[in-house]
Amino acid sequence: MVNFHILTLFPEMVLQGLHTSILGRAAGRGDISIEAVNIRDYTTNKHGRVDDYTYGGGAGMLMQAQPVYDAYKSVADRIGEKEGKKRKPRVIYLTPQGKTFCQEMAQELAKEEELIFLCGHYEGIDERVLEEIVTDEVSIGDYVLTGGELPAMVMVDAIARLVPGVLHNDESAQTESFGNGLLEYPQYSRPEVWHDKQVPQVLLSGDHAKVDAWRLEQSLLRTKERRPDLYENYRKEHPQTKQKGTHSKT
Ligand code: ADE
Repeated sequence: MVNFHILTLFPEMVLQGLHTSILGRAAGRGDISIEAVNIRDYTTNKHGRVDDYTYGGGAGMLMQAQPVYDAYKSVADRIGEKEGKKRKPRVIYLTPQGKTFCQEMAQELAKEEELIFLCGHYEGIDERVLEEIVTDEVSIGDYVLTGGELPAMVMVDAIARLVPGVLHNDESAQTESFGNGLLEYPQYSRPEVWHDKQVPQVLLSGDHAKVDAWRLEQSLLRTKERRPDLYENYRKEHPQTKQKGTHSKT
């Protein structure tokens, strides 16, 4: 069970996206919970403002420390009451300046009970509140988005599907791409022939050992061709594995 708390100016965006499909059903069953806290609800500004000009000039507005801190406190205090714990929950700030998100990070975060995500907007957030509350700064890649909501949704999705009970077939989180450090093998469904393309014979053989060997070989070929960086890592960790040649479509 992981409780996700998302601090944002756009709660509907986050909730609508994350309460759909697999994660929506998992939340319905209570395997995860996802709440969005509207930072604007915590501003003390009488016009409901949460942003202001940056000291030193420059383009754009900055989210102010006060509403961000008070929104965070409301969640942290609730968690503290529930758990009676001294330990502060992890607070993840989504920013292109953070460490790049990856499957290993998702696995580590899926072990936490409470995760708070802080979504920035405008040109960012006053550094002083970040210093006080943020434990992890995370980027989802080297490009710039308009806010932290989509990155938070990406992270919640990747983490939530690793929480026990969320995916019904426990195996599927283990055999897929990155689960074993390799890209996934190609897969086929009915019919056996489509647009003159035949499903590889080995998959119709019923010989599970052969199927597994074929899938591993395909994973290695794919990874070598498409992600030589991952392939090199895998080879270092599995030195006994045979070198793979060029990918063949047959
Ligand atoms: N906010 C804006 N761009 C981002 C990115 N690439 N990753 C995380 N947060 C962001």
